Amino acid sequence: MGLAQDASRDFDPQKAPFPFRLGILLSGRGSNFLAIAQSIREGRLPKVDIAVVISNVADAPGLAAARELGLNHALFVSRGRPRADPDADVLACLRRHNVNLVCLAGYMRLLSPGFIAAYPNRILNIHPSLLPAFPGLEAQQQAFDYGVKVAGCTVHFVDEHLDHGVIVLQRAIPVLETDDAHSLADRVLAQEHIAYTEAIARVASGEYEIRGRRYVKRQHSF
Ligand code: GRF
Repeated sequence: MGLAQDASRDFDPQKAPFPFRLGILLSGRGSNFLAIAQSIREGRLPKVDIAVVISNVADAPGLAAARELGLNHALFVSRGRPRADPDADVLACLRRHNVNLVCLAGYMRLLSPGFIAAYPNRILNIHPSLLPAFPGLEAQQQAFDYGVKVAGCTVHFVDEHLDHGVIVLQRAIPVLETDDAHSLADRVLAQEHIAYTEAIARVASGEYEIRGRRYVKRQHSF
């Protein structure tokens, strides 16, 4: 079976109690995942449930947290394997759990084009800078070293280019005179935890559409 075949062929979101079934992919700490889980618990994402949490790193604290919360979870170690192999495992797992919105939350792997094609405009990523500034690793350090006066985070759809897809939303904060790269990263992270929930809510609302590079409210015709 090719990677790009329809990801939700047996699943009818109209009939599901939670029409948005998240697959969360992570490699580390998992604080964004936990913030999403908390938003769901507290009723801030009413149409959304976490179908499965997947890690590519065996000792990722986020994976342990998923286990403790009693959520479906899976490990597909990626180190030392050609990219397409773990991607195929992850994709099969997402399909088994009827995932229809993939959330990258500190997933330190580039996805193969076939994976991205399997979930067109249904993969979100969070990045700790105001894109297009400072893509790639250690974005907060890059921003601090550059001397920016405003920093922040971006939730965007994933396309085939690094930290590049259509922006769902951004949250900005001022850089303080007293900041160092660590305090800035901490304050950006607090914004990330708000931003990811807001972005998922926006996608789940069905009220937005992609127009060119812009993610904007649908215009209703009466
Ligand atoms: C976050 O800063 C996120 O923006 C980046 O990776 C980090 C993951 O943190 N993509 P956590 O594992 O969610 O705590």
